[in-house]
Amino acid sequence: MDLVSILLLALILATVAAFYFVFASFAWGAGYQPAPRRTVETMLRLGEVGPDDRLWDLGAGTGAILFRAARERGAYAVGVEVEPVRVLILRLRRRFGRRADRIEIRWGNLFEQDLAGATVVTLFLWPEAMARLKSVLEHRLAPGTRVVSHWHRMPGWTEVASDRETRVFLYRVPGRASG
Ligand SMILES: C[S@@+](CC[C@H](N)C(=O)[O-])C[C@H]1O[C@@H](n2cnc3c(N)ncnc32)[C@H](O)[C@@H]1O
Repeated sequence: MDLVSILLLALILATVAAFYFVFASFAWGAGYQPAPRRTVETMLRLGEVGPDDRLWDLGAGTGAILFRAARERGAYAVGVEVEPVRVLILRLRRRFGRRADRIEIRWGNLFEQDLAGATVVTLFLWPEAMARLKSVLEHRLAPGTRVVSHWHRMPGWTEVASDRETRVFLYRVPGRASG
């Protein structure tokens, strides 16, 4: 194989790997895109995330929200991620960074988590996933639990606060209908 063929093969493999990394998890609920730094700040600020919180980041990616919630806000942060390469990155970041005792990584499907003890849930997902997640959150979270979403709104819920510039929306889980 000559040099040009080797370079071409490497380019094709790199492109396939990049497509896999970003788009494959669409099948589960969202592709990969890290929330920008300022957006994360807004999410944590609007969500009033602090040391007494147990935050679940559903679809944790490589940890843009998760690690800052624990390391800058002191929250106990649980990150759920389905894509194994990102789970490995999350585990390495947890292992070699600060506050490992306040960070939990779960490899799994966000729709199948018990969300135990959650006081805040953070989301940066695709609209179809948000619609599916709505009834899951209503059943598994206590009424009043804070849910902070970046980019997409939760259909049928009323925002408590929002930031238009970064497209961050804060909700409180509505009470269950009686009867
Ligand atoms: C747009 S990224 C957001 C990552 C991170 N929360 C952030 O804001 O930087 C969405 C992440 O959700 C993950 N994801 C999508 N569907 C999922 C599912 N059903 N269970 C767990 N993770 C999922 C994707 O693999 C991807 O890493």
